[in-house]
Amino acid sequence: MTTKSVLLIIGGGIAAYKSLELIRDLSKRGIRSKAILTSAGAEFITPLSVGSLTGAKCYTALFNLTDEAEMGHIELSRSADLLVVAPATADLLAKPALGVANDLASTALLATDKPVLYAPAMNVRMWQHPAVQRNVATLKDDGALFVGPGEGDMACGEFGFGRMAEPSDIADAVEAHFAGRSDGRLNGRHIVVTAGPTHEPIDPVRYLANRSSGKQGYAIAASLARMGAQVTLISGPTELPSPAGVATVRIQTAREMMDATMKALPADAAVCCAAVADYRPEIETEHKIKKERGGLSSIALEENPDILNALSKLDVGRPKLVVGFAAETDDILCNANAKRKRKGCDWIVANDVSTGTGTMGGDNNTVTILSEAGEESWENMPKTQVAGRLASYIADELNKRSC
Ligand code: CTP
Repeated sequence: MTTKSVLLIIGGGIAAYKSLELIRDLSKRGIRSKAILTSAGAEFITPLSVGSLTGAKCYTALFNLTDEAEMGHIELSRSADLLVVAPATADLLAKPALGVANDLASTALLATDKPVLYAPAMNVRMWQHPAVQRNVATLKDDGALFVGPGEGDMACGEFGFGRMAEPSDIADAVEAHFAGRSDGRLNGRHIVVTAGPTHEPIDPVRYLANRSSGKQGYAIAASLARMGAQVTLISGPTELPSPAGVATVRIQTAREMMDATMKALPADAAVCCAAVADYRPEIETEHKIKKERGGLSSIALEENPDILNALSKLDVGRPKLVVGFAAETDDILCNANAKRKRKGCDWIVANDVSTGTGTMGGDNNTVTILSEAGEESWENMPKTQVAGRLASYIADELNKRSC
């Protein structure tokens, strides 16, 4: 197995001293590190101690011509398999969340094409501040990974959440990340996944929706990412957190899902798992419809765009493999196969969503994969397992098609 390496970005917090222990712990596990020490971090520990432990140069400033000639910030940010930010201060969370790059650390964070693991460390009130929580949510939606913070006594004398995760926990998270991605069969592939329901507004307080939980689509996105794919998940409204290592674009309506999906192209494959509303109200009223005026006795509907159909029939830039889902309640295989042919996708995953199966919103699924070559039925299993097997089939198919 090739040696993995991390680029450690050390921010300015009292927990910076723990990063020295982290470097040693990673090294004991056979993981090499290079480090960037921010100027605030250098108030707590020295480049000399960092460099001595990594056994490599400790990078400290953006406009250092020697370093730029030796290894520019772009190269630095891409030479590692994973970026680890520890301690991740409020400042180091804010810059990448807002797209700010004004020093070496923040530039490396924006220039990288590798996953980033943040280990936040700050005072409990800072951690709870809505601005910090907003930035954390944005970074998670961009696919960032997080470890900690934990709860406990803090250097500032207060108690609560904000303590940086212990170095061994951060090293565990790094190792788990590498182990999860060890398959690598989808390295270098970009895959778009749609998931969840769509909400089609009637007026400012009401909408049309369906019972989709998004669980199957989110599990597929997570499995594809674990196999090394760069995944863009276009999600309707769900209760689910963005899966680790997945860039999530949150939308409300079918039309927004269509726009976001097309914007996410080019992609090697697309998996349309979303339960897109087929219709939307013809008119979305600006004001709440009042019942005494009899306004809601009927709603005129118009058809929404069909994303799977549009993707499958693209003349230019069609993903090599387009996978659809067919949620049916009767004559399942026959209806699903007709749908596959009508929409022009390569595979369709058919499942029974009739009342009593518990599929809609549940944790299990019984599916049949239909393609030009035939059909294959899988036993009832957790949605996460369906996702893992489907991701594996997608990897095999893409690898077969590109050789
Ligand atoms: N789909 C889509 N955009 C739509 C409707 C459906 O991308 N506007 C996709 C779904 O994500 C799924 C597949 O098409 O992959 C089938 O969805 P389904 O709702 O079962 O099919 P419909 O076309 O709506 O057919 P029907 O409602 O008649 O069964």
